[in-house]
Amino acid sequence: MKILIIGGKGTIGKRVSEHFAKKHQVIVGGRSTGDVIVDIADSKSIEAMFKAVGKVDAVVCIAGEAKWAAFDSMTEEDFTIGLKSKLMGQVNLVRIGQDYVNPGGSFTLTTGILADHPVEFTTSAAMVNGGIHSFVKAVALELRNGIRINVVSSGLVEDAVERYEAYFPGHNPIPMYKVINGYVRSVEGKGTGEIIRMYDNC
Ligand SMILES: NC(=O)c1ccc[n+]([C@@H]2O[C@H](COP(=O)([O-])OP(=O)(O)OC[C@H]3O[C@@H](n4cnc5c(N)ncnc54)[C@H](OP(=O)(O)O)[C@@H]3O)[C@@H](O)[C@H]2O)c1
Repeated sequence: MKILIIGGKGTIGKRVSEHFAKKHQVIVGGRSTGDVIVDIADSKSIEAMFKAVGKVDAVVCIAGEAKWAAFDSMTEEDFTIGLKSKLMGQVNLVRIGQDYVNPGGSFTLTTGILADHPVEFTTSAAMVNGGIHSFVKAVALELRNGIRINVVSSGLVEDAVERYEAYFPGHNPIPMYKVINGYVRSVEGKGTGEIIRMYDNC
């Protein structure tokens, strides 16, 4: 398969890219490094990326940002970061990318545990994750040519524990092989419209 992995140089993305590269042709998209440069918050940049890359069998997005801060400090602009990047960035990847995915191919998006189990300072990130879950269930009903879509929602991943553990007291870090398997299940499996949760019930 020819697999485009946006965010494929990030903490999760590099592990997922390394895994898929053992069996498939992987093209990494990133904002500052990668085989192709893209900013998912900008739909013109997404269009340019797909024109450069051409048809693919799978699009995997492991990128997208949202601002983490106390709710009473959040401005409307602060919420816009998550709406433009993690939410509409991933929606636009599917909207624009559907013409570049071969019949029977797939999209795999990324959210996270905050959709179900938010922690402090995540009103924006949690909201955006929940929106993507609903989007995936709805758009799965309408994608043509047997194109599938799923979303992987992991808990705090092992490779990011140092960076985020203070925000997630008592959470069980998710081993990287389980996180990778979420993406493998989506890309190589047959399911569609699924929220692939890689965490226990905390
Ligand atoms: N870390 C966790 O424990 C965890 C758990 C569950 C879900 N998630 C979610 O998984 C995703 C990846 O997390 P991570 O920890 O791997 O993040 P990360 O280490 O910061 O890596 C993110 C990657 O995405 C790229 N990227 C960011 N914004 C982009 C944009 N607008 N357009 C194109 N590429 C962009 C970055 O490229 P540049 O470096 O070039 O900017 C980088 O390669 C995030 O959405 C995060 O919320 C993370």
